Amino acid sequence: MRDEPLVLGIETSCDETGIGIVRGHTLLADALASSVDQHARFGGVVPEVASRAHLEALVPTMQRALDEAGVTLADVDAIAVTSGPGLAGALLVGVAAAKGYALAAEKPVYGVNHLAAHVAVDTLEHGPLPEPAVAMLVSGGHSSLLLVDDLTAGVTPLGATIDDAAGEAFDKVARLLGLGFPGGPIIDRSARDGDPGSIAFPRGLTAPKDQAEHRFDFSFSGLKTAVARWVEARERAGEPVPVADVSASFQEAVCDVLTAKAIDACLSNGVRTLVIGGGVAANSRLRVLAEERAARHGIAVRVPRPQLCTDNGAMVAALGSHLVAAGVAPSRLDLPADSAMGLTSVSVPG
Ligand code: KG4
Ligand code: ZN
Repeated sequence: MRDEPLVLGIETSCDETGIGIVRGHTLLADALASSVDQHARFGGVVPEVASRAHLEALVPTMQRALDEAGVTLADVDAIAVTSGPGLAGALLVGVAAAKGYALAAEKPVYGVNHLAAHVAVDTLEHGPLPEPAVAMLVSGGHSSLLLVDDLTAGVTPLGATIDDAAGEAFDKVARLLGLGFPGGPIIDRSARDGDPGSIAFPRGLTAPKDQAEHRFDFSFSGLKTAVARWVEARERAGEPVPVADVSASFQEAVCDVLTAKAIDACLSNGVRTLVIGGGVAANSRLRVLAEERAARHGIAVRVPRPQLCTDNGAMVAALGSHLVAAGVAPSRLDLPADSAMGLTSVSVPG
């Protein structure tokens, strides 16, 4: 529909420069430039390298997005940009660009929360999100369970990781198995040839004693250490490491805990919709296990296609479009790049 707002979204919080354009819930363009290859030899994202790559990629990615959507900046109704959380220097590039474009083209600008954008992106694929919903966000930087009553007003954190994020655990385990970076997709592939029941790795924060304080929190650092110890013991004994079995058993431990806690969060809040986002939501086992377990309780699972799960500009545009449609005021033009932006703020106030 022509009268729905045309919103452009800019994402630069980590290693992907993303520019997305949506009209209402319809995705028109999703241009992406990734610096992931430049970080691979370091085994993790190097903030300075990411910032420089954003600077180089931003203008060409913007042009690609506008061309793909067949629109000009003058046609756009609002510009949304990730204000935080993320890497400070990387965020600054996107925020400065958004301000420049907003000033030059006289458009309102919305500084938005990256995590809320990971939730909003699902509407581009599955339509309006039934509220309340529980959202599970699992990426390289975050693992959180959220109660979403009204995505434009704020979300309620239910729990989060107390140490490593789920994606970080995938990346670290892939590194210790010598598999490369980023680890998630490689472990996902390697696990297909392995037996998920072959090694009993620990399930963090699932003991009865953790119920009171950490019922909806996650911990993956003990699991990572357990994998390291197991691999070391094999190597010390001079035995080959069964990479596929380790991958499958590790992946099973992560997915078991994530899905069990997500379903528990739905049931205890009387919620019938679970939306999963973030890079780890691309994991094939997580998608299957979440579906299986949710179906047993009559809970609907919504997971966007893998390209929309990892960081992109479309998610920022999708959240911007929600805010415009809900009549939320744009952000002030001196909006900050807020590397520690909390979940209670979905957008920077005007
Ligand atoms: O959301 P994202 O693109 O960036 C952050 O905000 O962190 O997530 C990246 C993370 C990485 O840790 C990567 O290893 C993980 O998502 N990931 C996966 C898969 N694809 C990406 N983890 C498990 N299975 C996958 N298929
Ligand atoms: Zn992300």
